[in-house]
Amino acid sequence: MRTDPDHIGIWGRTKSGKSTRARAIIRARPGRLVVFDLLDEYGAEAPHRAGTLAEMVRGLAAGRRVRFVPDAMGDTAAQLDAVAEVLTRVQAPYKAGQSDARLTFVVEEMADSFPNVRRNKSAFGALCRAGRHWGIALIGISQRMADVSTSFRNCTAEDYFFPLRTATDYDTAAAGVVKAIQPAFREALLSLRPHEFIAYKAGEMKKGKN
Ligand SMILES: Nc1ncnc2c1ncn2[C@@H]1O[C@H](COP(=O)(O)OP(=O)(O)OP(=O)(O)O)[C@@H](O)[C@H]1O
Ligand SMILES: [Mg+2]
Repeated sequence: MRTDPDHIGIWGRTKSGKSTRARAIIRARPGRLVVFDLLDEYGAEAPHRAGTLAEMVRGLAAGRRVRFVPDAMGDTAAQLDAVAEVLTRVQAPYKAGQSDARLTFVVEEMADSFPNVRRNKSAFGALCRAGRHWGIALIGISQRMADVSTSFRNCTAEDYFFPLRTATDYDTAAAGVVKAIQPAFREALLSLRPHEFIAYKAGEMKKGKN
């Protein structure tokens, strides 16, 4: 039986090393890739630049790795949902068991596109909860965990924590790990230098470096 892919969160203050980590993960991972690339900074990993959904679908159909650069003046949350809806359709054969082609969907600056506010139906929220059945693995990135919807925060199988900023940021991070390791986790987080991280998975933490 195939193992469906997991979601990953990457958190840390500005310049702490988040995007560098995301790049390392996607370089090591074959298969389809779409980056929701607000700052248009993933040209090396995702050479096919798409400004529209049609351009994104064309790139994927041609077997290319795609960066979707949303209109920064537009509603980024609505654009993320639109991309999520199309990717769900692209991955329908995986859901139906007719394909094993997985897709990694990286979302940079998630506080902009999937903020921590109450919302009605959301295609991206559905991917958080059930994306694995469509073979879609999310990698969500944000400076502040608290600014991102709990729909994403509560569905990750693995989280990378880089140095944070405020006391609230450290509290939010600690609240998301199992109680038994909270004191050790806090201490380890506070000792991090830029580009060092704590990887948290299945109740365990491990220190690493970009
Ligand atoms: N191993 C490393 N050690 C020190 N600096 C590095 C290392 N790898 C990359 N850098 C540099 O550190 C800078 C910040 O890294 P990165 O862009 O990954 O941070 P970030 O957390 O994504 O920041 P932002 O929130 O502003 O997007 C980059 O300019 C990068 O070139
Ligand atoms: Mg970055």
